[in-house]
Amino acid sequence: CGIVGYIGHREAYPIIIKGLKRLEYRGYDSAGVMLYDGDNLKLSKTKGKVSDLEERAKQITTNGTIGIGHTRWATHGVPNDINSHPHISNSGNLAIIHNGIIENYEPLKKELIKRGYTFQSDTDTEVLVNLIEEVQKKENLKLGKAVQIALNQVVGAYAIAVFDKQNPDEIVAARLGSPLAIGVGEDEFFIASDASPFIEYTSNAVYLEDEEMAIVRLHKPLKIRKIKDDTLVDPYVQELQLNLEQIEKDGYDHFMLKEIYEQPNVIRDTYRGRLLANEGIIKMAGVEDNLEKFLNAERILIVACGTSWHAGLVAEYILEEFTRIPVEVEYASEFRYRNPIINKSDVVIAISQSGETADTLAAIKLSKEKGAFVFGVCNVVGSSISRETHAGAYTHAGPEIGVASTKAFTTQITILTLIALRLAKAKGTLSHTDFHRYLQELEIIPEKVAEALLTNDKAKEIAARFKDAPNCLYLGRGYNFPVALEGALKLKEISYIHAEGYPAAEMKHGPIALIDELMPVIVIAPKQGHYDKVVSNIQEIKSRSGKIIAVVTKGDTQVRELADYVIEIPDTSDALSPLLTTIPLQLLSYHIAVMRNCNVDQPRNLAKSVTVE
Ligand code: G6P
Repeated sequence: CGIVGYIGHREAYPIIIKGLKRLEYRGYDSAGVMLYDGDNLKLSKTKGKVSDLEERAKQITTNGTIGIGHTRWATHGVPNDINSHPHISNSGNLAIIHNGIIENYEPLKKELIKRGYTFQSDTDTEVLVNLIEEVQKKENLKLGKAVQIALNQVVGAYAIAVFDKQNPDEIVAARLGSPLAIGVGEDEFFIASDASPFIEYTSNAVYLEDEEMAIVRLHKPLKIRKIKDDTLVDPYVQELQLNLEQIEKDGYDHFMLKEIYEQPNVIRDTYRGRLLANEGIIKMAGVEDNLEKFLNAERILIVACGTSWHAGLVAEYILEEFTRIPVEVEYASEFRYRNPIINKSDVVIAISQSGETADTLAAIKLSKEKGAFVFGVCNVVGSSISRETHAGAYTHAGPEIGVASTKAFTTQITILTLIALRLAKAKGTLSHTDFHRYLQELEIIPEKVAEALLTNDKAKEIAARFKDAPNCLYLGRGYNFPVALEGALKLKEISYIHAEGYPAAEMKHGPIALIDELMPVIVIAPKQGHYDKVVSNIQEIKSRSGKIIAVVTKGDTQVRELADYVIEIPDTSDALSPLLTTIPLQLLSYHIAVMRNCNVDQPRNLAKSVTVE
């Protein structure tokens, strides 16, 4: 998840270790370093923290001035010493560090095995370094050219740095979908995921664009090329103005805001390689390998806590509608202690960002004891839940640092939608047309999420108006009832305003008593849902003088007439709308919390990973 490289006149090791520590905020589970001592590659890597790496790297004795280092946040293969980066090619000449995912690594790996390559790790990265080597050998090419040809065969996302000891005066770096900055000093270069590792050495940086590669050579000017068509690009050297903390947060004021804005990209990462919309295919190994179990399920039980439980509720609506399999969603903490009915024919889906939540873990163990098949949806690779479940799918949202969950939620919904669609295809419970329409819509959802993020200014304006409200009510129906719950939870968590989420129609059985002219009511009312019914609910609030903030589909006129504030989001089908309606609610909570001077990223009393019951 973090990359640092150095080539120049200083000792590389301390620069790399310090740089990796600077990147620690990104979250990681293992770390490694490769140093060039003038003859050989000196490698040290370990599961754990950068401090563990420092312990281990004591055996490397070189004060070499070239090196690369990495902190890994596992995507393929559990976190362990062998899967850590750097990875070395079969000949021992090339070393690589890589962030991202190579989607088509399986066919590439098969091909390389046929040609006699062997692999030590389970990673997609080791495939890439050997592919580069194969290209290099076959055509007797320089490293830069070989990297370029190899990358043109790769599908996926990456930021890489590669070193070749046969030509030790250069490092080749490239990016697609994962950030990479080059620090330009005097007779020295730094390569890093962001500028924080080199800010004290130079304030001159070049940020690579997608599909660009940099050839960094000693005593020579920086060269940048387009990976696709080989054209040379003039390096645009920026003078950095940001301080260290701003750099870590990518210029955002808080991790939460950064993570909210990451959602278009991480949703794409979640379905990357899994959703082939044009072919009408959904590929998920964990589901494919256990398809029979899913298809024979008499019931799906979802267990989770907190925001993950809300994602489970959205999934209940989606799974039941698409697959017609009955679904029940349970708080893991309740489920485990109430002698639940679990049958061998049940499929249990456990959802957890951290993969460490104690109650969810206990619910999984109980389900396994009773003979159910348990499928995990986790974000953290190699986490306890991902190991305890029979099979699963990772969300690939990247590390979530803000305690209040945002991108984990939308990526969980994305995964669960993919599962529902895959099962619906096998069961024939969706029409051919609907199935294909959903696939197409899902593929363009990241762009719509990006558009939904444009509501930021509006959310800020509304936040300023209601930041001192003592209470807040969130209403939604159908797919957007769980979004109302999640909206209320977000506000509670970070602004400490009491908030409740309710099914819009259920309001008249209680919460309506709370409504007066001071009460902000946030109503989620997209066009595709039970729109007319929600409009009636809005009228009920209006006639009791409640203040109405409505999330509506772009172009809406009816609700606009009734509401005090409207927030417009793009149109999509009802089932996918939670991915969009959630966004302005996250932003609203965020701005209210900031205006109330709350600690947004670390709200009082809350923990990111709850390992106690
Ligand atoms: C904590 C976090 C929440 C999270 C919940 C479940 O309460 O603060 O953001 O939703 O745990 O965590 P999990 O890692 O299992 O999704």
